[in-house]
Amino acid sequence: MDVIEAILNRHSVRDFSSKPVPKDVIMKILELATHSPSGGNGQPWEVFVATGASLDNIRRIYQERFQNGIASFGPPTQLPDFILKRMAANINEMINFLGLNPNDPASFKVIEKWGSMLFGVPVLVVTCMDKALSSNLDIGLFTQTICIAAQGYGVDSLIAMAFIAQQDVLRQGLKIPDNLNIITGIGLGYPNQNSIIKNYRSSRRPISEVVRYRS
Ligand SMILES: Cc1cc2nc3c(=O)[nH]c(=O)nc-3n(C[C@H](O)[C@H](O)[C@H](O)COP(=O)(O)O)c2cc1C
Repeated sequence: MDVIEAILNRHSVRDFSSKPVPKDVIMKILELATHSPSGGNGQPWEVFVATGASLDNIRRIYQERFQNGIASFGPPTQLPDFILKRMAANINEMINFLGLNPNDPASFKVIEKWGSMLFGVPVLVVTCMDKALSSNLDIGLFTQTICIAAQGYGVDSLIAMAFIAQQDVLRQGLKIPDNLNIITGIGLGYPNQNSIIKNYRSSRRPISEVVRYRS
């Protein structure tokens, strides 16, 4: 697969099959991700992988908390209006795609419930960074490289806040030391072929709006 194909094929999968991803493939993806650029080659990424029983345990607690009404994460605050509007449009598009009513709060619960089930992922990669560091840029680059490298191995991905919503559970389950902040959660696996959401693709702002080309 060439790089253009990998970029275009990558999309957020929100319903994974239980088919496992072999450990050597996971490790090759993560090894490729270590080739990401970082400021001064500081390579601040620290990675924890949850799979098998360790992931089952985390998923069980996430689901229990969802059933007990413990919010996975609150609505984004401190974001400017134009971003909140795009986020709302994105979730509404997804809800419409599922044939649900975006004006019904129960529709949002459907998406939240998927999150609490960790979207069925068989592999969860949690990236962390030392608390002494403040910029998440390097980890962002690392995270995207994981997703593109995964495409190269025919593995789909999802970056989601929902994965890292219950940080105490991840810290305990994955033995994440206190000196590290949890930055991103990336699910890896293969899509559930029977799922409707499998065919959902998000829209993009037109390039003419994004780029100011001066010559
Ligand atoms: C930092 C970050 C957090 C995200 N959190 C969630 C999430 O909690 N739940 C979810 O369904 N998608 C989440 N996403 C996926 C985005 O919604 C998705 O990337 C965006 O809609 C573009 O769609 P695409 O990835 O299919 O191209 C997240 C993506 C990023 C980069």
